[in-house]
Amino acid sequence: MAIRKVTYGKWNEAWDGYQAFLEGLASRPGVKRVCDIGGGANPALSLGFIRDHDLDYVILDISAEELGKAPGDYRKVQADIASPDMDVEGGYDLVFSKMLAEHVKDARQFHENVFKLLAEGGIAFHFFPTLYAFPFLLNLLIPERLSTVMLHMFAPRDSYRFAKFPAYYRWCRGPTGRQIRRLEALGYEIEEYIGFFGHGYYEGIKPLDVLNKWITDILIKHPVPLWTSYAYTLLRRVTY
Ligand SMILES: C[S@@+](CC[C@H](N)C(=O)[O-])C[C@H]1O[C@@H](n2cnc3c(N)ncnc32)[C@H](O)[C@@H]1O
Repeated sequence: MAIRKVTYGKWNEAWDGYQAFLEGLASRPGVKRVCDIGGGANPALSLGFIRDHDLDYVILDISAEELGKAPGDYRKVQADIASPDMDVEGGYDLVFSKMLAEHVKDARQFHENVFKLLAEGGIAFHFFPTLYAFPFLLNLLIPERLSTVMLHMFAPRDSYRFAKFPAYYRWCRGPTGRQIRRLEALGYEIEEYIGFFGHGYYEGIKPLDVLNKWITDILIKHPVPLWTSYAYTLLRRVTY
């Protein structure tokens, strides 16, 4: 397999840089058909951007309720991206997801289905939280009702637009050798894999936040792929 660029950054760079990174991908020459998986209530590209770049843009989501929250001008498809019987027409130049991968129980089927949705040479981009960051490990281990209460305490948000979904974190890891091998085994070429350290959950608790920032700085200098908190993966469907 060819190009494989593994780099690291801090958690706020993942969030602050997301829109520009995605829009850069959607602006690449030849990108016309774009699928936003799990876009649900919050499609990532605006109708203005879609119009200006003449994109054929579809939101694919398992939930009719979430799709119903997005403006009616978006084209929407209700489907389970992890279904072995997924029946959605392919040929996409760009398939991406933001905060979707951790909610999918069958990660292999998810990545296989994304592969099928891609045109030859098409790219998949996923942004997701990773284990073994402490807040996500806790979310995985404690009951859903307790994690919902804790989320409201540590990261309050509009629960209509940003509803909470059960998370399993399957294949949600930083750029470990195992993670790279299992994506390559599905036929993807890994163009870029960025692991991000640290998170913003302690911002209201000064001593923990200082500790979090200190550990983040150490990890940036001495990266441990299993201790990332978020990742970007940029994958390509290649033909040989
Ligand atoms: C945390 S929300 C993220 C929504 C949006 N991408 C964002 O960043 O605000 C996760 C979304 O994934 C959708 N979802 C969960 N499992 C899915 C599946 N198997 N197939 C398609 N969509 C799924 C949910 O319905 C929800 O809209």
